[in-house]
Formats: sequence, C-alpha cells, structure tokens
Amino acid sequence: MSDVEQLNRDFGGAGVKFVTGAGGLVLAEVNNVHARATIALQGAHVMTYARSGEEPLIWLSRQARLAVGKSIRGGVPVCWPWFGPHADNPKFPGHGFARTVPWRLVQATTLPDGSNRLEFQIEQSEATRAQWPHASDVRTIVTVGPTLTVELLTTNTGKEAFTLGQALHTYFEIGDIHRLSVLGLDGCDYLDKVDGGKRKTQQGAVTFAGETDRVYLGTGNRCEIRDPALNRSIVIQCSGSRSTVVWNPWNEKADKMGDFGPEGWTGMVCVETANAADDVRSLAPGEQHRLVAIYSSAPL
Ligand code: BG6
Repeated sequence: MSDVEQLNRDFGGAGVKFVTGAGGLVLAEVNNVHARATIALQGAHVMTYARSGEEPLIWLSRQARLAVGKSIRGGVPVCWPWFGPHADNPKFPGHGFARTVPWRLVQATTLPDGSNRLEFQIEQSEATRAQWPHASDVRTIVTVGPTLTVELLTTNTGKEAFTLGQALHTYFEIGDIHRLSVLGLDGCDYLDKVDGGKRKTQQGAVTFAGETDRVYLGTGNRCEIRDPALNRSIVIQCSGSRSTVVWNPWNEKADKMGDFGPEGWTGMVCVETANAADDVRSLAPGEQHRLVAIYSSAPL
C-alpha cells in the first residue's frame, strides 16, 4: 500500500483527503464548510488557505519549486530550530531544516464546528540530529476553519537546556504592496537587515517603498495588514512570540531568487510570528514552548 493510500485509510474522510501532488509531495487536502487548504507533509507546510467563496489569504508563488527536500516559496514555512543563518555553522540551511524534512501526521480531528485539525510531528533522522543534537519533540498543529490557526510546539525531552529560534514565516496574499500598511508595530525597535542590521524605532504603520527585511523586537500579540487594493484587513493574533519579521524582497531580489514569478513580489508580504534575534528562547529539560498564530480576515 502506498503512503497516500495508508494516510487515506488512517486519517481520510470528513473533509480531509491525501494525494500525491506536484514534485512527488504528499499533500493533505482539506475542504470543509469554512475553508479549503492544502498542507504538505514535508515541512508540515500549509501551502494554501482560502475561506469558502473568498480570495486566498495565503500566497503561494506560481513559480514555487515543488520538490522533495526543497523549501517552498509561499504558504506558511515552519522555520525551526533557528531563524535566519545558523549561529555557528554557515553550512547549515537558513531558517533551520524543519521546512524541508518529512513530518508524520499523528492525528486528524474534526471539531464540533466542522473545522479540521491536523497534528504533525517532525521525523528525526541522522541528518537532523547532525544539525540539532538535542532531544526534542516538535509538533505543528494546523486548524482549518473560519480562521487558520498554526501552532508550533517544542518540548525539551533531554537532560540539558537548549536555545531555540523559530518563525511561522507566513506569506500573505495582498492586492498591492505599494499601498499596504502593517499596524501593531508602532514604537517597537527593529533590526533593519537592509541597512546592515542597524537598530531603529518604528514610527506609525509600516509601509513599503523598497526591499524591506526587518526583525521587530518586543512585539505584542496582534498585527493587522491593511490592504486597500483587496479591500481587506488581515489580523494576526499570536502568543509565545515577542518578535515579528516583516519581509518583502522587492523587484531585484525577487528576480534573483528565481521562484517568485513575474511581479509576484507585488502581491505578497511576509509578517512572521517569531522568536528571533534577542527573542530566542532557552528551554529547560521537560519544558515546552508553544508558538501560536491565528489568521483571520474581514473587509476593510
Ligand atoms: C525572511 C528573512 O524571513 O526570509 C529574509 O528575514 C529572507 O532575510 C527571507 O531573505 C526568505 O528566506 P528564504 O530562505 O526562504 O529564501
């Protein structure tokens, strides 16, 4: 029996089915009364999410490279157990390895309101242990309902403390980056990665007029993306995070990256619920960290 047949037998039904998608990726397709979503088992990666009858909330590049072992441009990449470059070893992949390794589905539940909740656990291997020698249990829980909820749970199952960096590197679908504003970061300090990592202070809403790559520090539990071009406001409600990354590569960098598609960068923004820079966390033996982001939208 193939993996997909086994998954359908064990977890399929009531709004969830499993298929082999482009590039050989195994996908959970969720379709319920509230929304539709696609989640790749590789990376426990939400690739698409749209509420019934609405535009996608989550952006997926039309030129995303879908292949086993490759990171996907768009969706909700899970960056774990570090954010950005590894602290000591430049050979280790940026944003950690969680987004490019297989995760196993451990539970699929239908909630009383018809939402689907899928719980994934990372598959540890010699390759992951070579980069992360700490005993840990890592789960991503995705709830597809009237809102999209992504939870990232890390438990230290070993005998020594470790330092954890992470992000839900969410790409949002927007109408026009030039007219966009992000609220909720006013007064926060940020590290400006397009200006040598200089520490600056945000005044008012974040707006976009060029490449933007910032780690905001000491952030609260709510950000709002105001998108007049799609007449939509997207709200990110989060917990377990005190840093927020805001990223748009703009034209030159997007062209160099090669997987954005023509003008793709004008229709996306990343607002990432993170534990990055000053906000990395130390987890004592037995301790669990829970990072949660709830994404919702409403007309402006
Ligand atoms: C952002 C970083 O979170 O992710 C950027 O702040 C980076 O510096 C971007 O370019 C995309 O990273 P990647 O590894 O998915 O190309």
